[in-house]
This record gives sequence, structure tokens and C-alpha cells, in this order.
Amino acid sequence: MDRRRFLTVSASALATPSLVGTRAAARSVAGQPLPIPPILDASGRADAPLEAIAGAVDFGMGGKAKTLGYSQPYLGPVLRMRRGEIARPVLKNRLDFAVTAHWHGAHVPGAVDGGPQLALAPGKTWAPELEIDQPAATLWYHSHIHGETGPQVYRGLSGMLLIDDPDASNPGLPSTWGIDDIPVIIQDRLFDRDGVLAYGLDMPTMMHGLHGSTILVNGAVQPNASVARGLVRLRLLNASNARVYTLKFNDGRGFHQIASDGGLLPAPLARDALVLAPAERAEIVVDLSDGAAVRLVSLPDTNAAMGGMMRGGMGGMMGGGDSAAPEAITADGAFGVLDLTPDKAAPAGQALAQSLAGGPTPITGDPVRRRQVALQMGPMAMRGSGNPLAINGRAYDMGRIDFDVPRGEVELWEVTSDMMAHPFHVHGTSFTVLSENGKTVPFQQRGTKDVLLVDGSAEILVRFDKPATRETPYMFHCHILEHEDGGMMGQFTVA
Ligand code: C2O
Ligand code: CU
Ligand code: CU
Repeated sequence: MDRRRFLTVSASALATPSLVGTRAAARSVAGQPLPIPPILDASGRADAPLEAIAGAVDFGMGGKAKTLGYSQPYLGPVLRMRRGEIARPVLKNRLDFAVTAHWHGAHVPGAVDGGPQLALAPGKTWAPELEIDQPAATLWYHSHIHGETGPQVYRGLSGMLLIDDPDASNPGLPSTWGIDDIPVIIQDRLFDRDGVLAYGLDMPTMMHGLHGSTILVNGAVQPNASVARGLVRLRLLNASNARVYTLKFNDGRGFHQIASDGGLLPAPLARDALVLAPAERAEIVVDLSDGAAVRLVSLPDTNAAMGGMMRGGMGGMMGGGDSAAPEAITADGAFGVLDLTPDKAAPAGQALAQSLAGGPTPITGDPVRRRQVALQMGPMAMRGSGNPLAINGRAYDMGRIDFDVPRGEVELWEVTSDMMAHPFHVHGTSFTVLSENGKTVPFQQRGTKDVLLVDGSAEILVRFDKPATRETPYMFHCHILEHEDGGMMGQFTVA
């Protein structure tokens, strides 16, 4: 975002005084049935394009909110693509400003990846061909206009994307859509007293990223999912602009993580809680065969620059950087995300095997070179770039290629974070995490990733198998969307 626009928007402060009112509104509207987005098969073209449209949605928060969506008023259908096939999604822009659809996590060339260079003008249609060759995984898609990704995604331009692999089968894994295989798109939003989505960028918001006090799942306020009385698979997607969730169940029951960003883990991993940073996905299986209703909850977000000191007023009163934390329902400050009511018959044959087939393989081999990626903010960023958000001393410039990566070579990237943890994302690959703050990370725990919450430093192995030209390079950036829009992004080619 340029300085002039930053100054004008910072005048429109967030609707802090009405937060208490909206918390009460959230309480009264919670518990509606969880919307299950329809699946749109992207293998065939003609019938169903994604249409970027404007909507007006009554979230039950006091009035109608102006929203954006892909073929629906808010969010979009779940796109399905199949390994070994060419996916042919079609995007039509029916809005009066440019948008894109970026296939986040897809290993596709820069030319069809939906990054900022592929801004689609009003009235235009884009019909890329995506050669899908990667393991089954839960990905997502969202608009990626430079300087506008935060507000556009906030207003609704995102959706889930599933890659299926017909050759990898895991009989027993819950896979009945909407019954024991549940999409869970988690977002936090700020509503003002009129029930309108508030998006304002004052300096603290730009630095911490926008946090909301109302939790939406699939576009509904803290809803209730009617699910199988048995094993239930949740496809968790953090589609929030900035909030980091620490998810767990309110009755303390454990669960198994079965997949991360890049697809299935080698084996189910027992967990009591799961941290999900912006843009991360995780699939979990929870056993609800006892028939008891349970609530998925999250701890507040403690990730904030200088421990939240930059936030005045409410921030000081409510602790940490999470001045907008939703209403706590437990002593440890956890707030509700999604209720699960196991009142449907479980599909036959459910079982959680000892190991999972068809997951991604780690990137291995001696790295050909090392690269430093320093995610910077505040004084460190200002010193090099004159901008409060930067990478390696430079703020994002669409006209500058930051480096060129030879195709097919293994590189070791050392990513460091400044002032707070940053969810680092890179296009075009799923990487392997070698270490975090000097400690080795076993592949069994992370699988392959395209987003990693870096708090200090991390070493990752990357390899790019598809090309990205100077005209349509790959992006690497912080996925706190206010950081990305503000300049914590760079771009590179692969040839
Ligand atoms: Cu999810 Cu460059 O984005
Ligand atoms: Cu991406
Ligand atoms: Cu960041």
C-alpha cells in the first residue's frame, strides 16, 4: 500500500466502542447450522465458472454487510481437482475492480498461479489450465491483488480447494462430505453496531494484522455442525487475515492430525491441541462415537509486535495483542469456534489405520545453495527500505524480481522473523521443514508445508519443478495479509 492511501485509511479507526455490543450479538446468533459449501468439480469447464460478485449478507450481527464472493455472496464453492488430470477452472470478474484467484498450495506454473500480475480486469474472463500432479491435499484459493488482498479476502474472496488422488486410497478414512468429512473455514471478523464488516487500517492494525471479535466458520457465526456419531474428519483452513488459533476441544478430548498443508502425514499423529496460523491447513480426525456434543475452541492469539505494547486502550485492558479476542467461555480464555453434534449415523467401515498412504514425500538431498529470507517490520524494515514492512531490507515492488531460482534444484532457505511470529508462505512448492530455532523437526510431525509460522528462525528445503517467468513470477510473503499488502512480500523466477 502506498503511503498516501495508508494515511487516509488510518483515519477510519476501528469500531472499538461497539465491540462489547457485537460480542453479545455473536452470542445470540451462534449455533446456526454449519453451512457446507457445494463442491464444484473443476475438471470439466463449461457449466460452472467462478464469478467474482458482490453480495449483501445478514450474518445476524445487526444488519446487512457488504460482501464479496466467488459465485455466492460470501466465500466460494469448494473446488475439486484430480491428480493426473487437467483442471479447468474459469474466473469471470463481475465486479468493478480487479481480482484474481490464486490457487494457494498448488504446484502450478507462475503463468496460471493467480498471483498479482494476473489481475483480472472488470468484465474479463480467465480460463487457465492447471496440470494437477501432487498428492491429495486440502488447499484453498483467494484473491491476490497487490495492496488489496487483505480487504478482498476479508470481504469474502476465498474458498477451499481439494486435490483428490484416485491412485491413493485410505479405506476407513472418513470421506462422506458433510457427514463425517467436514470443511471448516475459520475466519475472525469485526462487525460494527450495524452488523457491517469493518475493515480499517490504523498503524497498530497494520502492524499486528487485523483481528476480529466474531468467529465465522464457513461464513456463519460460531455455528453448529450436525455430524456422524463416529469418526469425524475436519478439514481445518485458517482463512483469517492475521489470527493464529490454538485449537482444541472443550472437554479435553484428544484427536489425531492426519494431514498438513501438503497432504497426508505418514501416520496419524495424536494431539491435544493444534496451532493453526493464517493460511495453514490441517486435517484432523476426532472420535465422536460416544455421542456427546463437543465444542471446538481456540485460545486467544498472543502473536503481536512488542507483546501488544503498541496497542493502547482496550488492548491494555484485555491483555496481549489480542484486543479483539472473542468472548472467553473457559477459565483459560478460550473462545468458541464450532459446535459438533454427533446425531447422524456413521458411514460403514470407518477406521483410523496405523499408517496413511499417498502422502507427500519430503524434499531431500544436499542443497545447491542457501538463501536468507529476513521478514522485517518496524525499525529493522524502515532502516533498509523506508517502509515499516519489508523482506531483506526491501518492500515489495511489482517491477522488481528479487532473485532467480534454477528449476529442479534443492535450496535451503533460512527464514527469520522480526518482532513477532510471521506465517511465511511461498508459491509453487510444498517445502520440508528441517529445523526451527536450531532444533530438528521430524518429517512425521509436519509433512510438507507451504506456510510455516516462523518465530525466530527456520530452515526449510525447497525445490521448484514448474517455471515462473519475469512476467508471472512466484511470490513469497508473510500471510498476515496486512503485512503482505504493506510490503512484506517478494517475487522470484524459476527457469
Ligand atoms: Cu495464499 Cu501468495 O498466497
Ligand atoms: Cu499462495
Ligand atoms: Cu508478518
